[in-house]
Order: sequence, then structure tokens, then C-alpha cells
Amino acid sequence: MDNVAALILAAGKGTRMRSGVCKVLHAVAGRPMISYVIDAVRACSPDRIALVVGHQSEDVIKAVGGPAIEFAVQEPQLGTGHAVMAAGNLLREYPGDVLILCGDIPLIRQRTLSDFIGYHKLEASKLTVMTTRMENPYGYGRIVRDSSGFISAIVEEKDASDDHKRITEVNTGIYLAHGPLLFSLLERVGSDNAQEEYYLTDIVKEATKESEPVRGFKLRDSHEAIGINSRSELARVSGVIWCELREQLMESGVTLLDPGSVYIDSTVSIGQDTVIHPCVTLSGDTVIGRDCIIESGTYIINSKLGDGVRVLQGSRLDSAEVMNGTQVGPMAHLRPEAKIGQNARIGNFVEVKKSTIGDRTKASHLTYIGDASVGTDVNIGCGTITCNYDGKQKHRTVINDRCFVGSDVQFVAPVEIGQGSVIGAGSTITRDVPPRSLAVARTRQKVYALREGQGPGPSSGKDRKDEDCLLTRRIGLPEPGAKQEPESSDEDRKP
Ligand code: UD1
Ligand code: MG
Repeated sequence: MDNVAALILAAGKGTRMRSGVCKVLHAVAGRPMISYVIDAVRACSPDRIALVVGHQSEDVIKAVGGPAIEFAVQEPQLGTGHAVMAAGNLLREYPGDVLILCGDIPLIRQRTLSDFIGYHKLEASKLTVMTTRMENPYGYGRIVRDSSGFISAIVEEKDASDDHKRITEVNTGIYLAHGPLLFSLLERVGSDNAQEEYYLTDIVKEATKESEPVRGFKLRDSHEAIGINSRSELARVSGVIWCELREQLMESGVTLLDPGSVYIDSTVSIGQDTVIHPCVTLSGDTVIGRDCIIESGTYIINSKLGDGVRVLQGSRLDSAEVMNGTQVGPMAHLRPEAKIGQNARIGNFVEVKKSTIGDRTKASHLTYIGDASVGTDVNIGCGTITCNYDGKQKHRTVINDRCFVGSDVQFVAPVEIGQGSVIGAGSTITRDVPPRSLAVARTRQKVYALREGQGPGPSSGKDRKDEDCLLTRRIGLPEPGAKQEPESSDEDRKP
């Protein structure tokens, strides 16, 4: 858009949020609220986009910074008028119109801004304010009009008389002002008000004094102008955006069984014919392919899922990758850098961290796989654990293709299992296993006959001790407390 520079105010702390995080960085459906305002502005293609930052300026710049955005720093933050003044070094000489917006109105649309600019230009206006009607105008600046319908003042809630408070036409915080006029009016704005701040809204009064007519452009859908000042407004606006996102997804061919119960951030993409069950949260940089099923209670963040993936009830995926046709869960936990191949299975109570799992490999029950490379067509038995941490460092476990790992195996890393090997159930594997081998590492089973009255059954602790003595005598084991000879184990035997 020729002859329009945009200026977004984002320096305030947002005291009413009661937060350690600067207001404009609070997430709305997964993105900082200010990024929605920037997107809407950018879509209007202004000559320039400038942002006034102040509170936590470095964080704000990091979150939104891009080559096309200029920054002005407002320090300290003495009100919205003071914020625009802080951008004087960038825009004072700008000969066109300055579109000013607050950074806390993420529902604003590009179309509305374009219409606003169109109206301002058509009327050859030098100062136009976007207004709207709110059933409950509490907290907004009230629009005072003169007998000709021009705006003569904007009165802030804290400065408003009872008469002003009854006005339902409010200031959206969006203005278009001819650059040179804007900065000359601001020089006359003082801070003699309830908040002792330099209000941007006071340029209206100053323009009226100069006999410069101030026009109002009425926004029909007042929702677009909801400014987020509190946590409840944050929830309200997020709800509107989530609702829109769900509609867009369903429009694009995604089934949501209970739309109102799922939370899908604006940053997530989902392929056609995927079905999302109730109570699912999908956030961050998550991509879900086609024909997937995501069952209830699942939380997925920053993860990539291929086509035909099933994530069963109650699973959590964080920065993980799951390829086509794989099934995860129920109650599985994929942690950062878990990479699961195609047609694999990660079953219930299985946790995978910083590990690759090959195609068609199965770990179906109660397993921890951390810092491991598991090949293709491997079967990991129930209760298997990679012991990756020695208290100081993490070590890797490598299980090559086509291995069969029995139940309840511990791999004490670093350790490597050669291709096609079999690990006996209950083994503690501390040494590498060559390819095509059987490794068994557990104590040999012993069997004793129980005498009449021994074994399970109701008896006091004293009786039990007597029974133990009887048993040890009968089979010739050392008395309890006596020094024991080391037992030979299967580990020392050839399989
Ligand atoms: C402001 C308007 C009010 C309007 C409402 C619309 C003023 C005085 N009031 O009130 O008329 O109805 O927006 O949402 O302008 N900011 C700075 N520096 C500062 C103070 C604020 O950059 O020193 C930024 C904030 O980061 C925020 C924006 O300006 O993005 C608006 O500030 P906020 O405190 O939310 O103003 P409101 O009370 O909502
Ligand atoms: Mg506000």
C-alpha cells in the first residue's frame, strides 16, 4: 500500500496480565499475540513496518524480528502517545500516512485494515480513528462526537465521567494519521490525566483545537477489536481463534469428532482424512499426515507424523518423528529426537528418547529406549530397558537389524548387539554380542521341594524365620547371615 507506514505499539508491560512475560508475547493459539497483528499489517503491504518495543525488548525483537521490520525503543514506557513519539526518529520525516495499531488486538483482519485505509484516503482525511460499538465498553476509550459527527475527544475509562461511561462507541486503538500532523500534535500532548501518561488518544483533542476534522470509521464486527489486557480477555480471544482454526481444518478435510474439546494451534498442519478424537492438544511446529488417527487424551508438540499413523489414547509426543503406518500408544511417551520408522509399533508404557527405531520394529509393552539405535524388524520384549546413564554420562545402545530381544532385558550401555541375534529373557547385557548369536545373562534357576507346612500361607514372622532355617538345613545352604560362596551364573556358560 503506497504512502502508508505501519507503526505497532508493543512496548508496554501489560500490568493487568500480572505476568513476568511481556503482554504482546503471550501466546494466542500457539503464537505470540503480536504476530497476528504483524501478519494482518503485512498483508496490507505498507511501505514500512515499525514496532515500538520497550519492556523485554530483546525478547520481543527475537520473537517477531524479520528483515522488513524496523524497531524503535521506548524507555521508560510513559503511555501510548509517548510510544509513538519514541518512533519519531524513524517516521518523523515520513511524508505519507501512519497506520498506528496496538499490539494486543490479534483478531484484527487485513480486510478491515484495507477498508480503513481506503476510507481514510477517499475522505482525504488527515486523522481517522477506527471505532466500534461494544455492549460492554468497560476498559476502552469512549468516543465523543461533536454535532457534525466528527470525533472531538477520546476519554479513557479511568478519566471518564458517568456520562462518558454510558457511551458504547469505543476506540479500537487503530488510527491513521498524516505523518507530519501526527508528530506536531503529539508535541502538545501532556500527561495530566488519571494515569499520568501521555495518551495517544489526546491527539484527537489537539486536532480539534486546530480545527482539523477527525473522522471515525466504524468497524461492524466488534470482536476484531478486542484488546487483550487481562487473562480472561486472553482466554476469550484464544477461544475465538481456536474456533476459527477448527473450522478451517474441517473445511480442509480433517474430521474432529468433538471440535470444541480439541486445541490445535495455528502453527499445526494436518492432512486430509485424518481423524482427531476428543480432548487432543496439538501444538508448536507439528505436522500430521493424511489418514492418521489421533485418539483422545493425546498431546503432540513440535512433532512430525507421516501418513496413516495411529496415536492411541493418552500418548505424549514431544519433538518426535513418526513415519508412515506406525502405531504409537496407548500411553506411550516419545521424547525429543525419538525417530520411529515405518510400520513400527510403540506400545503401551513405552518411552523413547533420542533414539532411532527402524521400520517394522516393535516395542509393544513397558519399555524404555534412550540414546539407542534400533534397526529394522527388531522385536523388543516387554520390560526392556536401555541403561543409558552411569550417573555422569549418557551412553548409546545399538541393536542391529532383525534382533529378537526377550522380555525384561537390560542393556547396560555402551553396548552393541549384532544383526540377527537373540537375547534371552531376563538378561542383563553388559558386553557386545556378535551377529547371529544367542546371549543369555541371568542366574541359573534353582528348584527346591517344600515340606509340609512350608511355603505360602498364614503364619507369623517368627514361624516364617523357623521355616527358613528348616529349608536351608534340608538342602545344605549356608545359615542365614553366614558368608556365602559366589554362585556361578549362566553368563559364564556357552548358550
Ligand atoms: C488503549 C487506548 C484505548 C483503546 C484501547 C483499545 C490509549 C491511552 N488508550 O487502551 O483508548 O480503547 O487501547 O484496545 O491509547 N504501549 C506502549 N507503550 C506504553 C504503553 C502502551 O507501547 O507506554 C503499547 C502496549 O504494549 C499495547 C498498546 O500500546 O500494545 C496499548 O496499551 P494498553 O495499555 O493495552 O492500552 P489500553 O488501556 O488497552
Ligand atoms: Mg490494550
